[in-house]
Amino acid sequence: MDYKKHISEKLSIDGVNSEELYSFIETPPNNEMGDFALPCFKLSKILRNSPVKIAEDLKNSFVLDQYISDCNAVNGYLNFKINRKGFAFNLLKEIVSAGEKYGSDDIGNGKTICIDYSSINIAKPFHIGHLSTTVIGSALCKIYRFLGYKVVGINHLGDYGTQFGKLIVAFKRWSSEQAVLEKRLSELTRIYVKYHDEAKLDPSMDDEARHYFKLIEDGDEESNKLFELFKKITLEEVDKIYKLLNVEFDSYAGESFYNDKMAPVVEELKDKGLIKMSEGASIVDLEEYGMPPCLILKSDGSSLYATRDMAAAVYRKNTYDFDKCLYVVAYQQNLHFKQFFKVLELMGKEWAKDLVHVSYGMVSLENGSMSTRSGNVVLLEDVINKTIEKALKVIEEKNPALPDKDKIAKAVGTGAVIFGALCNNKIKDIVFSYDRVLSFEGETCPYVQYTVARCNSVIAKCGELGEFDDVDMNNDEYEVISTLGRFREVVKASAEKYEPSLITRYALDLATAFNKFYMNCKIAVEDEKVKNFRLLITKAVKVTLTNALTLLGIETVEQM
Ligand code: ARG
Repeated sequence: MDYKKHISEKLSIDGVNSEELYSFIETPPNNEMGDFALPCFKLSKILRNSPVKIAEDLKNSFVLDQYISDCNAVNGYLNFKINRKGFAFNLLKEIVSAGEKYGSDDIGNGKTICIDYSSINIAKPFHIGHLSTTVIGSALCKIYRFLGYKVVGINHLGDYGTQFGKLIVAFKRWSSEQAVLEKRLSELTRIYVKYHDEAKLDPSMDDEARHYFKLIEDGDEESNKLFELFKKITLEEVDKIYKLLNVEFDSYAGESFYNDKMAPVVEELKDKGLIKMSEGASIVDLEEYGMPPCLILKSDGSSLYATRDMAAAVYRKNTYDFDKCLYVVAYQQNLHFKQFFKVLELMGKEWAKDLVHVSYGMVSLENGSMSTRSGNVVLLEDVINKTIEKALKVIEEKNPALPDKDKIAKAVGTGAVIFGALCNNKIKDIVFSYDRVLSFEGETCPYVQYTVARCNSVIAKCGELGEFDDVDMNNDEYEVISTLGRFREVVKASAEKYEPSLITRYALDLATAFNKFYMNCKIAVEDEKVKNFRLLITKAVKVTLTNALTLLGIETVEQM
């Protein structure tokens, strides 16, 4: 039941259509004022009257019905109370019977959305800077799927460039297949760092690196075997982290995948007269749009990051026929996306408008750095493992008799990392603090997971659900129920705004409302009907919190 729609259709005001009215209706900050409110100052201009007078007039002509039980004019606002009992009973029953589907929708049926995220670089450490793209992108995949879209999750691997020639040079000088297989990504980082130190003294190494890179491109067997080894090692390492974070991809087509797909794009640019030569390089001039030129080919004819992205966009459109293609990439690359989106638009690709850069802020650690195996970057794996370790310690202290401690510590630790990264508006920079994300008080994952565990223990204690009709609701109960009813809207808004943090905030709101209810209202009371009603609320909260966490890639635990 869409109450806003119902109200806006009933109001019928000359000169304002019901869709516009719909968008004006809000939820009052506190449910004692009402469930919905129309701020009448928004109508002052059109109706040429004061908000107070407009609210009075509308109130006098409004006819109550089975859905709306009260309508009041207060200080220029028209406040509505819905038939709370009808709403509550229907909603709770719906949630419990829908279960893991509660909040899902079919608005995306028949639509496809590509999401480019995580997009790691081969042979480079997977560090804390990759946390946001990985968890934001993964949450968006799950959210869009929940709304019925066909989702293609793409890891646009950074697997092209002269650095792979350098790596081969370094490998041949200072490493071996055995060392790489044993020490894995840390070995690749070690020799890569060493290469840079040594090449400063011996610049001829760079020529050698270029030579090897050319060999990779030309299909030389030995060089490609090494390159494949580096790729395999990197993917195996990051896969461990993806598993921990419940992250999955449908495609690993990276930059090198587009080696043979750029020529037609460059040809088309030339045919359309968009290419200009500048110091031997081919560029698209974007001065008219207030941007520096987009580099298409270097003077030696080799392609660039943007060229590959353009070929990738064309390929994705042809292959998946997406309705939208999202790129979850940090704000440092804002210009890059604006540029190549513009170039595609200039080429006449009408779908360029469906490309969206989902930009986000930086993550840093609280006390600067921490020691890691590889130089000065903070490895994501170390952050997650340390959080899991700390979670285990807390459990040992607070609840040493808990069964399955390791499993619970894993869910709590990884959940804390994900939730910590998704807690605020994505464009904000984040300072990651172990103590903060693991705290049981405040805006944290353990707080939400603990609330689910609390629901479980209530449910276990109360047994089966029986009769509950005809109970008078108090405000604490109603606050939980009206929050439960917001979930659907929140999921949709998080997709529309590419903002998983709306779901994180929602989970915190619901947990807070439930805990207040739990503190103020005894659940296992004598009165069977009241007990059953409260048990039903508890079950619905468990379902909804679990669904919210699942959309973020976070597991719940039975006990904690
Ligand atoms: N590998 C790139 C980096 O680490 C990110 C790639 C993002 N995706 C894209 N289609 N450009 O900076």
